[in-house]
Amino acid sequence: MITNKTQQSGAGSNSMSSYLAPLVQQIQPSGIRKFFDLAAGSKDIISLGVGEPDFKTPWHVREACVYSLERGFTGYTSNAGMPELREGIAKYLQTRFAVEYNPENQIIATVGGSEAIDLALRALISPGDEILIPEPCYISYSPITAIGGGIPVGIETFGENNFKLTAEGLEAKITPRSKILILCYPSNPTGAIMSREDWEPIAKVVEKHDLIVISDEIYAELTYGSNHVSFASLPGMFDRTILVSGFSKAFAMTGWRMGYACGHSDLISAMLKIHQYTVMCAPSMGQVAALEALTNGMEEKDRMVDSYNQRRRLIVKGLRDAGLECHEPQGAFYAFPSIRHTGLSSDEFAQRLLREYKVAAVPGSVFGLGGEGYLRCSYATSVAQLNEAVERIGVFVRQLEQERTE
Ligand SMILES: Cc1ncc(COP(=O)(O)O)c(C=O)c1O
Repeated sequence: MITNKTQQSGAGSNSMSSYLAPLVQQIQPSGIRKFFDLAAGSKDIISLGVGEPDFKTPWHVREACVYSLERGFTGYTSNAGMPELREGIAKYLQTRFAVEYNPENQIIATVGGSEAIDLALRALISPGDEILIPEPCYISYSPITAIGGGIPVGIETFGENNFKLTAEGLEAKITPRSKILILCYPSNPTGAIMSREDWEPIAKVVEKHDLIVISDEIYAELTYGSNHVSFASLPGMFDRTILVSGFSKAFAMTGWRMGYACGHSDLISAMLKIHQYTVMCAPSMGQVAALEALTNGMEEKDRMVDSYNQRRRLIVKGLRDAGLECHEPQGAFYAFPSIRHTGLSSDEFAQRLLREYKVAAVPGSVFGLGGEGYLRCSYATSVAQLNEAVERIGVFVRQLEQERTE
């Protein structure tokens, strides 16, 4: 049978591609991954590329996990996650963001925020549904939408408006097939946030067109200045919103793979069906660690946020001094400077910066509409590395100016 398929595909004796689902074949590999393959193997690279805290998970969190392993806590938990963890999440969300979820049927612990996004989309999409996605945005929304049979519809946001979503921008993309709006504020890759005043007109459009919202609030703790406003806390939005979040960014816990989704019990129980048949439950040791982070981890989290804030100021000033226009990111840990005036595409700029100056940053074009002309620079790296990186970027920008005048 394998021989037949291979011959049918006409793609050579080793090709198995004819077996693949067409929807999956259409998906492009991550632009970030493609770019970082170029960096692999090169020495002395300063990486502003990865969206990952440079802190180790706080010791008390690791210790709680070690202790629970010593006690032999290594089995499955309930599908939705340990009751104590769900209670901890409910309490945390109420205290921090004024949204009240019932831990019994409105919260599910997931394998990272990633699984929560996947579950939400799979539970909601019918083939042909249009999913509205403000861009530039986190790279997984479009491919997961497409794999689920939905049609991703990008809504361009603009640097001139600090990459905020506007009611007009949203309304312009709505059709009778629009069903879901995916929100990601604080934003990866732009660092944009939305205030209550920014949200109110968006909520009106959501209500008017009967949309359901997946609000990815994984960077909610990482805001500098004004506090995060959870979309679910807006009047009338609670039942329409699936709040997605996780422990990776705020608590430096990327490898633990712990996240959660909260929402109306009908939606959460549908997501739970997929979750129980696919992953069964989030990792038990990760759940123990997540509970410890919520219970005793706030001080350490605040210290990490202060440190990102210090580095945020440093990189923004450094990039501006280097000759790049850079709006002030208000959240997450990314700066998103414009490289438009250099005359290079963001891909060319990033490739030459990597090749000639050994600084890795991500071309804005990989983040969808509105990303071309920008560069994503993660500042979750040491002050010394950041200083060196902006120094090198400055030399590169001056070199490009010289090239243009020659
Ligand atoms: C906006 C956003 N959402 C979700 C995720 C997924 O995070 P995790 O699966 O580690 O919780 C990321 C990771 O970079 C992200 O940037």
